[in-house]
Amino acid sequence: MSERTPWWKEATIYQIYPRSFNDSNGDGVGDIPGIVKKLDYLDELGIDAVWLSPVYGSPDVDNGYDVSNYREIAEEYGTMADFDRLLDRLHNRGIKLIMDLVINHTSDEHEWFVDARQSIESEYREYYFWRPGNDDMPPNNWRSLWGGSAWTHDEATGEHYLHLFHEKQADLDWDNPDVREDLFDIANWWLDKGIDGFRLDSINLISKPDGLPDADLKEGLTGLNVVANGPQVAEHLQEFCRRTTGKHDAVTIGEMPELSVEEARRYVGDDDENLSMLLNFEHVELDRGTGARWAARDWTLPELKEVVNRWQRGLEGEGWQGIYFNNHDQPRAVSRLGDDETYRRESATMLATMIFTLRGTPLLYQGEEIGMTNPRFESFDEIRDIATIRSVEHAVETSAISDFEEVKDLINARTRDNARTPMQWSDASNGGFTNGDPWIKVNDDYKDVNVTSERDHPNSIWAHYRDLIALRDQHSVLVYGKFRLLLPDHPQIFSYLRTLDDERILVVLNFSAETATFRVPDAVEYEESEVLSHNGVRDDPSSLAGTDLEPYEAGIYRLL
Ligand code: NOJ
Repeated sequence: MSERTPWWKEATIYQIYPRSFNDSNGDGVGDIPGIVKKLDYLDELGIDAVWLSPVYGSPDVDNGYDVSNYREIAEEYGTMADFDRLLDRLHNRGIKLIMDLVINHTSDEHEWFVDARQSIESEYREYYFWRPGNDDMPPNNWRSLWGGSAWTHDEATGEHYLHLFHEKQADLDWDNPDVREDLFDIANWWLDKGIDGFRLDSINLISKPDGLPDADLKEGLTGLNVVANGPQVAEHLQEFCRRTTGKHDAVTIGEMPELSVEEARRYVGDDDENLSMLLNFEHVELDRGTGARWAARDWTLPELKEVVNRWQRGLEGEGWQGIYFNNHDQPRAVSRLGDDETYRRESATMLATMIFTLRGTPLLYQGEEIGMTNPRFESFDEIRDIATIRSVEHAVETSAISDFEEVKDLINARTRDNARTPMQWSDASNGGFTNGDPWIKVNDDYKDVNVTSERDHPNSIWAHYRDLIALRDQHSVLVYGKFRLLLPDHPQIFSYLRTLDDERILVVLNFSAETATFRVPDAVEYEESEVLSHNGVRDDPSSLAGTDLEPYEAGIYRLL
């Protein structure tokens, strides 16, 4: 099967978390006019599309991932006129806009839920999962992802409703055709405005198993394992694509926790009836332990290679994926996989080199391009992330821990707030993000780590991202080429080939803070190599033979 070449395969996508990007009116919360002010910045970086985290009406329990009105812009972010201006100005620069559509659940303040909650007779009752339960016990044993039961008992009607996330995020019943009809209307309403596609939040959770059976809850499992990839997911998503995005050449990016490569193949494909690409989690969950949400485990580089290789090979000719390390739910990759102290610049550029050389569409997250790091949260009241707050509260309530102090270091390593501190534009107060009081603390390192200083630095991380974006535009082998892993067991070096027709590119990454000796495996024959990109940690990166790689060295070579 020959692959289609839609725009989104060659694009670089940049995610904006509007709350933390740029505040134009001094209320401490980023906003849409603030984004408009930074369009030159995005243009200069060279990105092709913006993925905008939710800006719809919302009580903001989960910073907009709890939508109460899908057809309005939350006041804190501006007006619909501001949104239209943003869309227009992006398009004038040739940049696409991808909205974040959160339709596995709605806020409990959405009018459908408000109505549904009032009476068993409500016409919206069956938009959600309401069940009687047994003597006030929840209808099944599913756990909310953030602690406690996935069911909340509601006084008004004496029944329980399902919420896989917070109790203010009630799950919609996609098996109800009226629900689908209303959701498709919403999607078409935005597409008619001219947006270029959707990132679909938690979208493989939309079809719950028949009869909502108890889950086999092994340690650390929440029941999500039973709920994800349910019986109708593929069918519902195909209908979604056919009825909405497929008619507009719009991209669909499915965010899918608990996904295997085999399941993934059912959802993506080279046609308008399947999702354009998916976001899987395996590579960012390698360091996650079992048990509490913040539990950690050690990971090794060969494990990461195995995961990446399995996904790269498994989707070859079958489907497409987004390539990422960072987003608003993940701790900063430079702190997590790199070294944000001694080798911040080196490891940030090494990770960037990887993101741009795997098969798939790179998705960057604001601040990644300047090497932003995890901040340090000293007390519980500095935490804003509802998932962290909930899971700590739940652990205290159930006496699993005595207080925040006990798990402070683990939380610091894992909390989603790591990614949500304000974008650091300059060394001005609050990193130039706001003139007011920021809604979440600014990382203390903003005087050293900021856009202004980074862009001018001789070994600029920002310039490395810009150059990699341009490089990928010039070499279709980086987009479409096959992926072949080399040295699967090497403990420090991640190396692979990308090949397309007679073009061959070799990527060499030292994933460690020590030097590492690299030899091109004998099976890879070549006469000469040309350096296409290097992260500048060695004066003369031209020779590949028997090279001693510097800590976090990263190079892209064309083999001739
Ligand atoms: C995934 C989103 O990325 C995350 O931020 C959110 O909390 C959950 N889905 C629930 O919408």
